[in-house]
Amino acid sequence: MRAYRGHLLHIGGAPQLAQVSDHLVSVPDGVLVVDDDGVIVFSGEYAGLPVDLAGADVTDCRPGYLLPGFIDTHIHFPQTYCTDSYGGGQLLDWLQRCIFPAEARLADAEVARRTARDFCRRRVEVGTTTALVFGSAFPDAQDALFTESLRVGLRTISGRGIQTVGPAAAGPLLTDEAAAIDLSAREIDRWHTAHPLLQVAVVPRFALSVTAQTLAALGELYDSVRAAGVYFHSHLSENLLEIDAVRGSLDVSCYLDAYDGRVGRAGGPTLLGPRSVLAHAVHCTDGELARLAETGTSISHCPTSQQFLGSGTMPWRRTTANGVTVALGSDVGAGDEWLMARVANDCFKVHISEPGSAGLSIPPAQLLFTATLAGAQALDIEDRVGNLDAGKQADFLVIDPQRQPLLPELLERVDAEDTDRLLFTLLLGMREAAISEVFVQGRRLTAEASMPTA
Ligand code: GUN
Ligand code: ZN
Repeated sequence: MRAYRGHLLHIGGAPQLAQVSDHLVSVPDGVLVVDDDGVIVFSGEYAGLPVDLAGADVTDCRPGYLLPGFIDTHIHFPQTYCTDSYGGGQLLDWLQRCIFPAEARLADAEVARRTARDFCRRRVEVGTTTALVFGSAFPDAQDALFTESLRVGLRTISGRGIQTVGPAAAGPLLTDEAAAIDLSAREIDRWHTAHPLLQVAVVPRFALSVTAQTLAALGELYDSVRAAGVYFHSHLSENLLEIDAVRGSLDVSCYLDAYDGRVGRAGGPTLLGPRSVLAHAVHCTDGELARLAETGTSISHCPTSQQFLGSGTMPWRRTTANGVTVALGSDVGAGDEWLMARVANDCFKVHISEPGSAGLSIPPAQLLFTATLAGAQALDIEDRVGNLDAGKQADFLVIDPQRQPLLPELLERVDAEDTDRLLFTLLLGMREAAISEVFVQGRRLTAEASMPTA
């Protein structure tokens, strides 16, 4: 049993977006007590520590803050070294010029291992304790990712990126349809129940990278593994040229129909559901948003990436008004920022910049929510992670403002009772230097840890 004393800041309970400001918990002299299984057994005022827990070893993190670990619901493992894509242009050109060639390099086992090591190390450095990870086309690279994630102690959901059709640049990433289904099924068998920190997703790259036949076969595969808690992950309506191309190549009345068993207007098994997460949704119709909400499918909103690729932005008011769960994604490498606090900062900026009555100043509690608890809701693991409530697994960060120039001075100027203002200053102002410790299931993770050499 260990106790961590510091300023607790999190979204308590299990609210929906509209209620989160009432659920913002701030305990200036707080404590988390974590048992030997890595579960939070007490969360609250230090002065209120129950006598039976008073014997726990106390780590004094003051004047630090204890925040839930960040949850990144969309990040590309094979794009670890792609955050500087020069000359790429918008989505479809960028994929061909920069991304397909870069991702092809993971066919080399040594490149894949190094990428897995650097990817996991960056996640620890920025406190992304849970991530839904868009995988590599190459099964050995996926094995390297799962192996390294487990060794480091991160929570990872991932699946091989499936492509059965594409331009010449995508050639090394393509398989035929039978292999695509077989490789995903094998990945599920090998990794989905291998360890509680790991789970698998079925991940077609996007509607343009798979044929109608592949989508139908994936629907059948997903039907057979859905009950086991396997995820579905892809991209949706990110770019206008992409949407036109989807309409042209698949016989669908809207983009979402491609994932909803409706290619060729047929009624096949859907890929949507409570463990389905679609990245972007910048240009969805109200009908698509209603269908996402109806099926419990979530959106991973990636404002940093949407700016980098000139995609536009997911309309915040209209999307959330439709009742869809919106969580945040870095979308590294189209997103050039790994730290979810900075992605939340971009989220604030792009939505205050939406035109006319669409624009809004997102409250700080909602920003923290999208980077933590909403991610847990989108991933259907809200019972385990996402905040610092007793009973949850101890996935948390220690933020030490002293490690960042001027952050202590900014915080000092905030009235401690003004919790919204305090959270605004901390979340929008923090850089990764301020993250001093990262815990998953009560275990402290270290960024230095590297893969054992072969
Ligand atoms: N759509 C298809 N592939 C990708 C990708 O790698 N990144 C982004 N942002 N969108 C995509
Ligand atoms: Zn992406």
